[in-house]
Amino acid sequence: MSATPELVIKDLHVGIEGKEILKGLNLEVKRGEIHALMGPNGSGKSTLANTLMGHPKYEVTSGEILFKGESLLEMEADERSRAGLFMAFQYPVAIPGLSVANFLRTALNARLAPSENDGSGAVPKKRGIAPKEFRALLKEKMALLKMDESFAGRYLNDGFSGGEKKRAEILQMAVLKPEIAIMDETDSGLDIDALRIVSDGVNALAGPGMGVLVITHYQRILNYIKPHKVHVMVDGRIQISGGPELALQLESRGYDWVRNGKEAVAR
Ligand SMILES: Nc1ncnc2c1ncn2[C@@H]1O[C@H](COP(=O)(O)OP(=O)(O)OP(=O)(O)O)[C@@H](O)[C@H]1O
Ligand SMILES: [Mg+2]
Repeated sequence: MSATPELVIKDLHVGIEGKEILKGLNLEVKRGEIHALMGPNGSGKSTLANTLMGHPKYEVTSGEILFKGESLLEMEADERSRAGLFMAFQYPVAIPGLSVANFLRTALNARLAPSENDGSGAVPKKRGIAPKEFRALLKEKMALLKMDESFAGRYLNDGFSGGEKKRAEILQMAVLKPEIAIMDETDSGLDIDALRIVSDGVNALAGPGMGVLVITHYQRILNYIKPHKVHVMVDGRIQISGGPELALQLESRGYDWVRNGKEAVAR
């Protein structure tokens, strides 16, 4: 395992339409670690996720984000995912006519391909995975996630239940093998069975190869996904960090004591 965390966020300030939302956020996530990010509504959790994926609306006014030692802010959104940053969306779009298998193969080939704009002006060589090899990979990953093979032939997210969308996302993670995965509100709208599927998937994948940042409101998912660290965001900053016990404290005590603690510190 590398000594330097793959994802390093330093004193990040982000604004939307002139309003500052993130106000000096520091966070480090490395491969092999599961981090949970919690915090009240509107504290800036999704703003962080959107900023990491390069959403154009979110303006970074100061601070930096390093991904594998390079400035993430200088990369386009597609370069970020090719580099190994993965984002699981709360509401993934349906693509009728595109099968899960074809989508995954295209996504994997994009990840395997060298950057089209490496500055050298050279035409990038094709390095895609062979169809046969891909089928074997897909079969292996679907078995790992206990998914029915027929799933691969369905159209992406078209008529998928909430739980199936989440499974498709976990499968995507298994195939693409990102170094860092960010999951925003992955648990919202999931029943207990689906929650377990998502959690088992994350636990199966988050080994030495992958680090995960799970953004969640509920301690519930953390009964299944065991985080190494829990962070609480209040008003655009991580106010307090701790171990899994912190999530339990939040469940029983709410967020007020974190806010009050902040005032006590500020004074
Ligand atoms: N695209 C946007 N346009 C305008 N305001 C936005 C936008 N995105 C976020 N905000 C504002 O930024 C603040 C933080 O929102 P954000 O979605 O990051 O919070 P959150 O911590 O994810 O909340 P929740 O727990 O409800 O998901 C809110 O005041 C929100 O209204
Ligand atoms: Mg949010």
